[in-house]
Formats: sequence, C-alpha cells, structure tokens
Amino acid sequence: ATNRTFTMIKPDAVKNGYIGAILEKIQTAGFKIVAMKYTKLSKGDAETFYAVHSERPFFNDLVAFMTSGPIVSAILEKSNAVEDFRTLIGATNPEEAAEGTIRKLFAGSIQENAVHGSDSDENAAIEGAFHFSGREIF
Ligand code: CMP
Repeated sequence: ATNRTFTMIKPDAVKNGYIGAILEKIQTAGFKIVAMKYTKLSKGDAETFYAVHSERPFFNDLVAFMTSGPIVSAILEKSNAVEDFRTLIGATNPEEAAEGTIRKLFAGSIQENAVHGSDSDENAAIEGAFHFSGREIF
C-alpha cells in the first residue's frame, strides 16, 4: 500500500551543500514530497524528537549536532515508504552503508549521517505530526 515516511536532511548535509543532490536521489527513487520545510530545531525540539534515545551516551552530542544549523524536514509518500526509504539511505554508520546509498555518498560519521528516516509506520506518523500541521501536507 502507498504510505508515508518522515525525513530530515541533517545540519551536516545542509552545511556541505547536499540539499539538492539528496532531494534528487529521493525523487528519482520514486518518493513524492507531500510536505517540506527549511527550518531549525530548538534544543527542546531535538530533545523531544529524540526522547527515545535520552538514556544513550550519545544523546547530548546528538542534540547539540541536530541544533547546530538548519535542516530540511519532509514527509514522503510511496508504496512501502518506511522500508524503501531506509534502503535508500543505508546503514546508520556510513562506513557500513551500501554503495550508492545516501549515507554512503553524503555522510561523514555515525552521528553526522546526513539524513534521518523513520523506523516504523507508527513513528513516521508521530514524527511527521511533530514537524507539520495538517495544512502543510499536500
Ligand atoms: P538516526 O537514526 O536518524 O536517529 C538517531 C541518531 O543518533 C542517528 O541517526 C545518529 O545521528 C545518532 N547516532 C546513532 N548511533 C550513534 C552512535 N553510536 N554514536 C553517535 N551518534 C549516534
């Protein structure tokens, strides 16, 4: 069935000038952009968004990184969106990401890994609703 996932182009990829190249990969892979914005997370936003990781040793660094500069957030639509998008972006650690994946091409480290992709349909809905109101989704 056609469904949705949520993504962010993270501050490292924005700083490095990869917004256009990453959106090209996303659209060429058949994802339809149904919502998108150029924005910046506050510390509170990042802490809430990543609350599931709050006990992890990398949490404070992750929040600092994700608030270090602007991001692009988007909701994407495609059949099998969550799984297919995770295949397109590759493993969390770019050193383990498959050839041709977005993280292999554009990420620098396990933390500064260029893009986010939701890990389940349930989280895709939660994350999309965190970033967008109904009037911003087309
Ligand atoms: P993502 O999977 O989008 O969401 C959680 C983020 O935490 C992940 O991307 C990385 O940016 C970061 N992360 C995950 N594991 C580690 C790790 N071991 N060390 C540092 N950062 C990590």
